Amino acid sequence: MDLSGIDLNHVPAHVACVMDGNGRWAQQRGLKRTDGHSAGEEALLDAVHGALELGVSWLTVYAFSTENWRRPTDEVRFLMGFNESLLIRRRDELNDLDVRIRFIGRRDWRVPKRLLRRMDESIELTKDNRKLTLTIAFNYGGRAEIVDAVKTLTERGLPVTEASINKHLYDPEMPEVDLWVRTSGEMRTSNFMLWQAAYAELYFTDAYWPDFRRTHLADAVREFQDRDRRFGGLNN
Ligand code: IPE
Ligand code: IPE
Ligand code: MG
Repeated sequence: MDLSGIDLNHVPAHVACVMDGNGRWAQQRGLKRTDGHSAGEEALLDAVHGALELGVSWLTVYAFSTENWRRPTDEVRFLMGFNESLLIRRRDELNDLDVRIRFIGRRDWRVPKRLLRRMDESIELTKDNRKLTLTIAFNYGGRAEIVDAVKTLTERGLPVTEASINKHLYDPEMPEVDLWVRTSGEMRTSNFMLWQAAYAELYFTDAYWPDFRRTHLADAVREFQDRDRRFGGLNN
C-alpha cells in the first residue's frame, strides 16, 4: 500500500467506520441487495489489513444497527446468517493476523443464539491478540448504549458523570474515536458511536462499502493528519 505522505507516528489510534452502501452497490450491478452485503466481506478484510499496515490499533465497524430491524425480514435473516458464517470463515485468519475480535451492541432476544455463540467463540479464540482490536458493532445503537450505561449506574446508585458513563459503555476499554469514516456518500451518524465520537474527525467517501479498500483508509488517514484538532481549546 502507498503510505506516502502519512506520518506513521501520528496515526489515529481508533478508527470507526460505517460500512454503508452495500444495497446500492448491488442494485447498480443488477444484483440482489444481499449480494452487496456478501461483497462487503472482502472490503472488511482489506480494511483490516490496511489498519494493520498503518498501525491503527482499534478498528470499529458498524455491521448492524438497532434500527436495521426495520429492514424486510428476509434481509434481516440474511444478515444474521451472513455475520455468523463470516465469523466461521474468517476468525482463524484474523487470529493469525494477531487481531482481537470484540463486539458491542445489545445482546437481546432478537439476535439468534447461534450467532451469539459464534461471537463468544471468536472473542475467546482471539482474546490474547494485541496488534489490532477489531470491534464489530452488532445490534448497536449509540443512544441505546448511553441509555444502558445510565440505567446500570442508576440501578447501582452510582453517580452519573462522564467518567462513570465511560466506564459503563459496552466496552469500557475502548478509547475515544479519533477518525470516524462513512462510505456511500451519506453524511449522517445513523446512531454510530455517539458518545465516543464527540471529538472524532469525520471523513466521508462516496465509495460504496464493497468497493472500499485499504487505500481508502490510507486516504482518510492522510486527511486526518491535515486536520487541526483543537478539542475546544486553541492550538499555538
Ligand atoms: C450497509 O449497507 C449494511 C447494513 C446496513 C447492514 P446498506 O444495506 O445500508 O446499503 P444501502 O445504504 O441501502 O446502499
Ligand atoms: C448504518 O447504515 C448502519 C450500518 C451500516 C450497519 P444504514 O444504511 O442503516 O443507515 P441509514 O438508514 O442510511 O441512516
Ligand atoms: Mg445504508
